[in-house]
Amino acid sequence: MKTLIFPLSLVAASALLVGCAHRHDEQSSEQIQQNFVPGLGEFMAQTAARHAKLWFAGQARNWPLAAYEVEELHEGLEDAGRYHPSHKQIKEPIPSLIAAHMDQPLAKLEQAIAARDPQAFIENYDKLTEACNSCHRQTEFGFNVVVRSTSNPFTNQAFGTSE
Ligand code: HEC
Repeated sequence: MKTLIFPLSLVAASALLVGCAHRHDEQSSEQIQQNFVPGLGEFMAQTAARHAKLWFAGQARNWPLAAYEVEELHEGLEDAGRYHPSHKQIKEPIPSLIAAHMDQPLAKLEQAIAARDPQAFIENYDKLTEACNSCHRQTEFGFNVVVRSTSNPFTNQAFGTSE
């Protein structure tokens, strides 16, 4: 009799354990979802995509799309600073670094786009790119060098105007 009870209680105990582990898994994946914040590097990869799209929008003289990409760059960088107020060895707060490097070049680009001025767009685009790199150098990430895109990787989006 004893030999029968022992294995049965083992089965019951392991069923209980499996149940607990299952519930635990569910809770932690919910928590992970709630707490998920992309890393600063992820925000930056997104920023780099928008930076490239901005170039092709400007080259196509698609001013509404260019204005949109500048706005998205601004918002994405603000989120990067909001979710990463500090980062690794960097001493300065990320939001102030972003404001110091990005606010002026982004505002200048907005002006060039509003004026539909292709030459001012190119000049200010290059200044923005240089400002990305100056923040990288200041934060000891100078090995991340941003340049103008030479070919468009986003073949699933139309950059020319539909007008
Ligand atoms: C706070 C100043 C700052 C500004 C402004 C900034 N970056 Fe960064 N960037 C960083 C830091 C810090 C990292 C490294 C993050 C990490 O630890 O992964 C980075 C990383 C990157 C990377 C590498 C990401 C990867 O996955 O390979 C790219 C690309 C990048 N930035 C593009 C840009 C572009 C484009 C701009 C301008 C529109 C820009 N960054 C503006 C600080 C900045």
